[in-house]
Amino acid sequence: MAVANQKGGVGKTTTVMNLGAALAERGAQVLVIDLDPQSNSTSGLGIDPSRARLTTYQLLSGEASIDEVATPTAVPGLHVVPSQVALVGAEIELVNQEDREGRLRRALAALTGGFGYVLIDCPPSLGLLTLNALAAADEALVPLQAEYFALEGLAHLLYTIQLVRMNLNPKLTLAGILINQFDARTTLSWDVLNEIRRVYPDRLLQTLIPRNVRVSEASSHGQPVTVYDPSCRGAQAFRQLAEEVMSR
Ligand SMILES: Nc1ncnc2c1ncn2[C@@H]1O[C@H](COP(=O)(O)OP(=O)(O)O)[C@@H](O)[C@H]1O
Ligand SMILES: [Mg+2]
Repeated sequence: MAVANQKGGVGKTTTVMNLGAALAERGAQVLVIDLDPQSNSTSGLGIDPSRARLTTYQLLSGEASIDEVATPTAVPGLHVVPSQVALVGAEIELVNQEDREGRLRRALAALTGGFGYVLIDCPPSLGLLTLNALAAADEALVPLQAEYFALEGLAHLLYTIQLVRMNLNPKLTLAGILINQFDARTTLSWDVLNEIRRVYPDRLLQTLIPRNVRVSEASSHGQPVTVYDPSCRGAQAFRQLAEEVMSR
C-alpha cells in the first residue's frame, strides 16, 4: 500500500507508522518502506537514519535485497526499510536508468512472503520516488488534512494514480481517502468532510483520524502512538483504521 499525497504535512508518515503499528498489534507482519529522503518514518519508528547502513537507496539501486534492508523495530512484527537523505540522489540518478519507475517493484518481487502488509511512505512530490511506490503497490491510500485547500491537488493525484494504472501497474486501486487531523469542534473540519463526501462519495474511508497532540508527541519520541499512549484517541483511531483495512 502506497501512502501518497504530493502535499507535505497531510499525515502520510503518521499514517504509515501508526497504521503499521496497529496492524502489527493485531498480529500481522508489517514492513514499512521509507521512501522519503526526510526519513521521518525511520526516525519515528525509533531508528537513527544517520546510522542506518543499508537503506532504501541501496534497495532501489540494486546493491541490497529487501531481506537485507528490512530492519526490525521495537514493535513486535513491525519492520522498516530505513531512508537517508542520500535518497535525494537516487531520484536524480534514476532519471537515466532503465525501468526507472519499476525499481521498487522489482526489489519487492524478491520478498519471500512473510509480510502481510507492506506500507510505503512517499515523499511530498509526484516525482520518480512516488511513481516507484505507485508502480509497486496494489493500493494507494491518500491522507488529507482537514484544512483549507485540503482538496487542492487531489484531482491531480487521483489522475496520476489512473495514469500509473494504465501505463505501469494495472492492478493498482485506490484504497481510499483518509481524513486526518479531524477536529469535530470546528466547522472547517466538517466542511472538508462534507466536501469530500460530495465530490468523491465512495472514496472516503470510514475512519476519521482526529487531531490529537499525543500523535505528534509519539513521533518525536520515536514511537508509534499505539505504544506511546495506547489508550489515547489517536491510538484508538489508528486501531480502527487497521480494522477497516483488514476487513476489506
Ligand atoms: N492526527 C494528528 N494529530 C496531531 N498531529 C498530527 C496528526 N497527524 C499528523 N500530525 C503532525 O503533523 C505533522 C505532519 O504530519 P506527517 O505525517 O509528517 O505528514 P507528511 O508525511 O504527509 O508530510 C507532523 O508533525 C505530525 O506529527
Ligand atoms: Mg512524511
